[in-house]
Amino acid sequence: MKIVVLAGGTSTERDVSIVSGTGICNGLRAKGHQAILVDVFCGAETVDWADPFPREYDVEAASAYIKSFNPHIEQLKKMRKDFFGPNVLELCKKADFVFLGLHGANGEDGRIQAAFDLMGIKYTGTGYLSSAMAMDKGVTKWMFQMKGVPVPGGVTMKRHTRKEDLAELGLAFPVVVKTCCGGSSIGVYIVKDQEEYMKALDAAFVYEEEVVVEEFIQGTEYTVAVVDGKAYPVVQIVPCQGFYDYENKYKPGAVKETCPAPISSELTRRLQDYAVQGYRALGLESYARLDFIVTDDEKIYCLEANTLPGMTPTSLIPQEAAVLGMDYPTLCEELIRVSEK
Ligand code: DAL
Ligand code: MG
Repeated sequence: MKIVVLAGGTSTERDVSIVSGTGICNGLRAKGHQAILVDVFCGAETVDWADPFPREYDVEAASAYIKSFNPHIEQLKKMRKDFFGPNVLELCKKADFVFLGLHGANGEDGRIQAAFDLMGIKYTGTGYLSSAMAMDKGVTKWMFQMKGVPVPGGVTMKRHTRKEDLAELGLAFPVVVKTCCGGSSIGVYIVKDQEEYMKALDAAFVYEEEVVVEEFIQGTEYTVAVVDGKAYPVVQIVPCQGFYDYENKYKPGAVKETCPAPISSELTRRLQDYAVQGYRALGLESYARLDFIVTDDEKIYCLEANTLPGMTPTSLIPQEAAVLGMDYPTLCEELIRVSEK
């Protein structure tokens, strides 16, 4: 198959996406596919695209090239109105499939999915509406509440509806302040008093116009992938210190991730059932990964659904697939297969 792996982009998760994209491209090439790695925003200028799918294509070099734009990305964003870099759409139209290795805004939020639908380009993952709903943590909370998936109590607020009195929101410290559409815990703050709360609001509103404030749930994190409507094995995530923030997510050895999770079969089943229920509540298709917190007395709360979850070779979904006997390249193929329907 001729496959374009899109990575990079302009979101706060650009760096993670480059690692996901590189892994996916390597995985698909190991399976004999003609895969290339392209930065959706910066395009493909320095590679010889006359033969857009060269056999000896150097994935590592492409990844270094994409990364080289990092310091300039804010500048480029100001200069360029067009989100799609040179040659990107032409390459995607020529490909049999586009693997979305993107994370966060303009990749995971439904916009690219809607654009590709209109252009007849086939892509991995769920469609535009469910992507948009899952990207927005406020909308996700409402949909989950409506469909009986337990969530932490909370509210969303815009910059101009900012509320500084927690009692008015029906909440009490500690709370979590997070950007509505962020990812990888960027713009997430656990706050225990008024001073921290004000600082967290200021910081979160630097990233986005809308934030979520919700009750802090003390517990252990778990995650469950749902692929083609079926739950994969559960992963338990225990950070060596602090919470599962950006550093802990991507620093090797900073967290202990165990799959299958060392929990009772009853708790495993409940988490998997809620994962599938959450997937359905948002109308998700193809695949997603749902994140949970479970208290010591086994109360389950669903935090969010990730529609283009991390796909670095050591990410969570690859760990779940390994338990099912599926290696990383096979998982990459599987995610295309379930997106083809
Ligand atoms: N947002 C990151 C990439 C994840 O969910 O894995
Ligand atoms: Mg996320």
